[in-house]
Amino acid sequence: MRVAIIGTGYVGLVSGACFADFGHHVTCVDKNEEKVAMLRGGGIPIYEPGLDLLVQRTVREERLEFETDLSDAVKHADVVFIAVGTPSRRGDGHADLSYVYAAAEEIASVMDGYTVIVNKSTVPVGTGDEVERIIRERRPDGDFSVVSNPEFLREGAAIDDFKRPDRVVVGTEDDRAQAVMKELYRPLYLNETPLLFTGRRTSELIKYAANAFLAMKITFINEMADLCEEVGANVQEVARGVGLDKRIGSKFLNAGPGYGGSCFPKDTLALTKTAKEAGTPLKLVETTVDVNNTRKRAMADKVVRALGGNAEGKTIAVLGLTFKPNTDDMRDAPSLDIIPALQAAGAKIRAYDPAGIVEAERLMRDVEFCSGPYLCAEGVDALVIITEWNEFRALDLDRLGEHMKSKVVVDLRNIYRPEDMAARGFAYTSVGR
Ligand code: UDX
Repeated sequence: MRVAIIGTGYVGLVSGACFADFGHHVTCVDKNEEKVAMLRGGGIPIYEPGLDLLVQRTVREERLEFETDLSDAVKHADVVFIAVGTPSRRGDGHADLSYVYAAAEEIASVMDGYTVIVNKSTVPVGTGDEVERIIRERRPDGDFSVVSNPEFLREGAAIDDFKRPDRVVVGTEDDRAQAVMKELYRPLYLNETPLLFTGRRTSELIKYAANAFLAMKITFINEMADLCEEVGANVQEVARGVGLDKRIGSKFLNAGPGYGGSCFPKDTLALTKTAKEAGTPLKLVETTVDVNNTRKRAMADKVVRALGGNAEGKTIAVLGLTFKPNTDDMRDAPSLDIIPALQAAGAKIRAYDPAGIVEAERLMRDVEFCSGPYLCAEGVDALVIITEWNEFRALDLDRLGEHMKSKVVVDLRNIYRPEDMAARGFAYTSVGR
């Protein structure tokens, strides 16, 4: 099949490379000339393990190509994906759909023959209807279907999530479009991945409902962690104890500094707006958004408490700045709230992250960036782990302690065991234990 993908962000690029790997012929289109030039040369604009090799191989095998102009790609495509950004609109928190609609207009002007137009961007309920209206208005004679096909991949595990998803959701009631989508996803179908066909609006909502539920699950265990601290219980054991109940499930029950990233914060907010406007507010999701926002700042207070209640003039080492490991993405990262709050409390910050420093330098003021965890710990009054990168999981603790002025560690991801830290003479605080 011939596939065109508009937008080479996370979702567009990963989907494009994976569809090409399945054997389809894929053209990824992006207006950004620099980005396209980089991709053609085998460079990857995002940090995603394994993506560089996959792109380079599928390009070499001539199944993946990159263009700045969508005309040719769309004209010859059986399926056109819209995978452009839907950022939060400034001021009201709604998803900004201007890129989606602009893509729809351009597609309408060049499509040729029966074309399935697929929204892969996370878009509010009803966006598919509007895309269809826009295209129909420009091409009253056009032979096309508009389908919703949300993407559930996680950054840092994107290729695996794409190729081995729990399910593929396809929102269309049109038989012809269903047949095209079945063919497109046939390689997954053979793996027995459930392909779930729903109405278009339902499919659009499934994506938001899934993200909101996961965000709620994380927020629930985060609040449980606070309770555990007060009553002398252990949140990891609570999570395990409840997670083994198959109705609950053990995933996404790791307590931490609050969720961040490009999806959960934006999508939960957008969903609450949609629900309010529909006259059926989602109070659980609204509360999740509030609790998570408060939590990131509360983590700074936790650090100050570990310093004896006063951070004035203290130096703090921060390990991990990105919103999670295996990404260079800093969007809505907890570190962006925690670090300024510590600075406001009078602390000086030294920081290290394996992939996020370039972006962090742009976003943070007065932080001294270091080139490794031990250098970062040099002479500090406390060390805070904000992101659980693998390379922080097995640090040489004695060496670390030798570098620090005082051996105070605040582990916001629970990657060390309190008894091990105590045995090595650290004043150790974690989350919910
Ligand atoms: C998420 C969804 O998982 C994915 O299905 C969707 O397509 C996009 O949004 P992503 O944002 O890449 O993916 O990362 P994810 O692994 O879900 O983590 C999101 C945030 O939640 C991170 O800040 C992470 O640290 C936090 N988290 C996750 C926890 O604090 N505890 C957990 O148990 C799991």
